Amino acid sequence: MSTVYSDGRQEKRVERYTKFWQKDLTNESEADSKNRLDKYTDVVNGYYDGATELYEYGWAQSFHFSRFYKGEGFTAALARQEHYLAAHMGLRPGMKVLDVGCGIGGPAREIARFSDVQIVGINNNDFQLGRARRYTEKAGLSDQITYVKGDFMKLSEQFEANSFDAVYAIDATVYAPTWEGVYGEIFKVLKPGGVFGVLEWCLTDAWDPSNPSHKELAHQIEFGNGIPELRTLKVARQAMKNVGFQIEHDEDLAARPDEIPWYYPLEGDIWKAQTAWDYFTVWRMSWSGKLVTHTAIRAMELFGLLPKGTWEVGESLKVAGDSLVKGGQTKLFTPMYLMIGRKSAPPN
Ligand SMILES: C[S@@+](CC[C@H](N)C(=O)[O-])C[C@H]1O[C@@H](n2cnc3c(N)ncnc32)[C@H](O)[C@@H]1O
Repeated sequence: MSTVYSDGRQEKRVERYTKFWQKDLTNESEADSKNRLDKYTDVVNGYYDGATELYEYGWAQSFHFSRFYKGEGFTAALARQEHYLAAHMGLRPGMKVLDVGCGIGGPAREIARFSDVQIVGINNNDFQLGRARRYTEKAGLSDQITYVKGDFMKLSEQFEANSFDAVYAIDATVYAPTWEGVYGEIFKVLKPGGVFGVLEWCLTDAWDPSNPSHKELAHQIEFGNGIPELRTLKVARQAMKNVGFQIEHDEDLAARPDEIPWYYPLEGDIWKAQTAWDYFTVWRMSWSGKLVTHTAIRAMELFGLLPKGTWEVGESLKVAGDSLVKGGQTKLFTPMYLMIGRKSAPPN
């Protein structure tokens, strides 16, 4: 029997998480990918039941990447990335907006304040939803943001067709078993004339599936981040078109010639911290920071303060950090392929 905690976490799915991949990632087969795609809900929930608190401790309440400017604080940069998306989408006060894969609501709270919109956040993870509601209440934004539990592959079962003015997804739809599936559902619930803005995790055009080291890198990023299958930027763009969106803008924001790369906080080099406040954030990603965190997790798990398997999920986060840095340095991977799609309104 799996222990289900009052906060929504389930012990067995945390414990099972790492079993979705071969121990040696060079032995991964098509069958392994297929199994993860079939069981995407278990893969994602196993990962986030284990990783959510670590993300909050090691990163922020916004579980996404951003570009960085010199001298810019870490959380200010995360907020700017959210503002950038909202501005690009043309969000206006009073709009009804859906946040797809809303995490613990960091972006929703920021965008609600920035754009004065009404937001519904959808997520399939109970533990994160509980935290999202708590933080949103504390922020005094409960009348502006509501959260619902649901699978973003089935949005049209949960929401009326043509009911949102805008939809956004930040570092979330990469978890979908198919992009056509999730983008198609988003298309259905958007009003005609409505806009969809997404920051997508993709392999770039430089990624070569016939190159074993490229393949291994993709599997490391999948394993480290709970992603059933990583796909290319071309596939994402085509999926948007296939479901009916007119792409108004698309750009790999990671391809900008930034002096401070998007992956700098993961490098764990405290000398790269951009403000005094950020030394601690960057230290947590250094080898000594990770040693302290992971030893503490091991002890808490032994004393029953964390679900069994949390330490193992934490270990996979180390693979995440290293592989994301490598993917960024080699430009084989981007966590910020921006697409702005429009559902065209019928002619009058
Ligand atoms: C990297 S986090 C990003 C969260 C949030 N967008 C942010 O930027 O803070 C990915 C989120 O997608 C959610 N997610 C993954 N698959 C989902 C699905 N099928 N339905 C709903 N949410 C999903 C996860 O639970 C997680 O909250």
